[in-house]
Amino acid sequence: MSTSLEKKTENVVVITDLTKSFDTAQILKGLTLSLKKEENLVVLGKSGTGKSVLIKCIVRLLKSDSGTINVCGNEMTELNNLQLNEVRRKIGFLFQGGALYDSMTVRENLEFPLRRMFKNLSRAEVNAKVQEALENVGLPDSIDKMPSELSGGMKKRISLARTIIVDPEIMLYDEPTTGLDPVSSHEISLLINEVQAKYKTSSIIITHDIECAKTVANRIIMLQDGKVYKEGTLADFENSDDALVNSYFKSQNITNTKTI
Ligand SMILES: Nc1ncnc2c1ncn2[C@@H]1O[C@H](COP(=O)(O)OP(=O)(O)OP(=O)(O)O)[C@@H](O)[C@H]1O
Ligand SMILES: [Mg+2]
Repeated sequence: MSTSLEKKTENVVVITDLTKSFDTAQILKGLTLSLKKEENLVVLGKSGTGKSVLIKCIVRLLKSDSGTINVCGNEMTELNNLQLNEVRRKIGFLFQGGALYDSMTVRENLEFPLRRMFKNLSRAEVNAKVQEALENVGLPDSIDKMPSELSGGMKKRISLARTIIVDPEIMLYDEPTTGLDPVSSHEISLLINEVQAKYKTSSIIITHDIECAKTVANRIIMLQDGKVYKEGTLADFENSDDALVNSYFKSQNITNTKTI
């Protein structure tokens, strides 16, 4: 059995020399990164640098051109569809824009992934899981609401509940706070930390929101020109002399990256 110290240095995702092009445009140009067990890894980078493409390649929603993608010991590029779906069960993906099904109630939105992944759950077990997921995101009373009755922040929370309801080991958050006011953004950032603590998830969080990065990051990488441009702690980024890094962090105060 591994000790908690070993756990935190164990890699759950290792990506090596990943490349991905669309027609003549090469987006990922040999990207290498690792995600440690139970860490929150923040990914920064300009719009269009390939952040969303990167996490879609991880779950094979997009096929990479070359390089390796290892998830929990599985080489994703070599798996058949059945094996791929097994690994995907471990991964929760909060999509950029995180759309709920508009014609379904909150309860139905949450039951959907649950029934797809766990076919033999009883009605009582489904109800309990839906209730627990909603409590975890602080919205137990929204169960019978339609998405159109929810605010943007509430929709994000419900999207998060829909993702965590199937107990993922790895969470991929694509711009979880975009479009929210600062208070709602901070609440979502705190929820990301709660999910990490409660479910022991290892997470990649793509964000342009530096306050979110500061709240959730154990480690940060910045993408530029299809590769990792800089990797380090929040303090490394805040203390950097690099002009590109400063364009994100220059007006921010120095704080330490939280420990896990
Ligand atoms: N399915 C696709 N087909 C063709 N081009 C694509 C596809 N998906 C992404 N791209 C292109 O790849 C580049 C990177 O896109 P991506 O969505 O990863 O950017 P991003 O870093 O997530 O940007 P943002 O911060 O705006 O979300 C863009 O030029 C985009 O047009
Ligand atoms: Mg994106």
